[in-house]
Amino acid sequence: MKKIAFFDAKPYDITSFRRYENEEIKFRFYENKLNPDTMSIAAQYDGVCAFVNDTLNRDVINYLGENGVGVIALRCAGYNNVDLKAAQGKVKIYRVPAYSPHAIAEHTMGMILMLNRKLHRAYIRTRDHNFSLEGLTGFDLYGKTVGIIGTGKIGCCFADVCKGFGMKVFGFDPYKNSNFCGEYCNLDELLSSSDIISLHCPLTKENKHIINSDTISKMRDGVYIINTSRGKLVDTAALIEGIKEGKVGACGLDVYEEETAFFFEDKSDEIILDDNLLRLIAMPNVLVTSHQAFLTKEALDTIAQVTVQNFADYFNSCESKNEVVAK
Ligand code: NAI
Repeated sequence: MKKIAFFDAKPYDITSFRRYENEEIKFRFYENKLNPDTMSIAAQYDGVCAFVNDTLNRDVINYLGENGVGVIALRCAGYNNVDLKAAQGKVKIYRVPAYSPHAIAEHTMGMILMLNRKLHRAYIRTRDHNFSLEGLTGFDLYGKTVGIIGTGKIGCCFADVCKGFGMKVFGFDPYKNSNFCGEYCNLDELLSSSDIISLHCPLTKENKHIINSDTISKMRDGVYIINTSRGKLVDTAALIEGIKEGKVGACGLDVYEEETAFFFEDKSDEIILDDNLLRLIAMPNVLVTSHQAFLTKEALDTIAQVTVQNFADYFNSCESKNEVVAK
């Protein structure tokens, strides 16, 4: 029987994975993140299941490899937190490449609708019996231009959603996708012609801070910036400056540069020491959600099913298209 340790496990992970346990595979769920402090726990298992904010650097991977852990299955799509070169020949890495691009695309549009139509403010007002409409004016999405950076599975789904609203859709991606319903352009064109810019590319060494003071200066006044991809795609300090200057009209963040210390956890009894996060949360035209875009029943079901299959493929020495290797 194979024993698997889950790190950063939440109740919804336990619910969706428990039903896959059988006499061949057993799971143990740890609330702690995987990092150098907890890697000795992981070393007691045949495999590890990790998530977006677990530390999978060279030290952790070497330690796991040396202690007989041959497989790390990520229960997510992104793998920017994994040192793939360190893993080569030691530990096999798997991921769930697509679980529900619709979940993320729909959350992205939800954030835009909330920010534009000030639903977050209206909700608080009417609960306080304040029925004034002052300050709640939005704009029609119909006829506006959305710029999508990264036109893979999620970017294409989001483009379809935007088309449904009657928006003009621009896309920037080094690789063209025949499923993309919009019009491709270069990054500068996208920046200067979009009313809303949404990030749907993975985080790589090359695109860290793709949204920075220079790219923000090329955007339209009042632009909306939405990031549901990875926090480090956005230079937070530059974003805050852009909002303070009024250049950025609104911002939706489902991910944040320094999210590891906060997201997915209840910090309501603590003093938050991250001034940038506090500043963003305090702004009326900023919506922060806690890396929630993936969280639908359908996505959780697919994540569990594919992750369990990834473990089975590893233990049965089957090839898998979900294995991630260093390029
Ligand atoms: P995908 O691999 O299908 O598409 C990514 C696209 O980005 C590809 O077409 C690629 O060519 C493009 N790309 C790469 N570098 C680029 C750059 N510098 N500029 C423009 N485009 C670039 O990935 P998918 O499934 O669409 O996911 C996109 C990202 O969404 C993931 O990498 C992950 O970071 C994020 N994500 C966030 C979730 C959440 O809950 N907030 C859940 C799942 C994914």
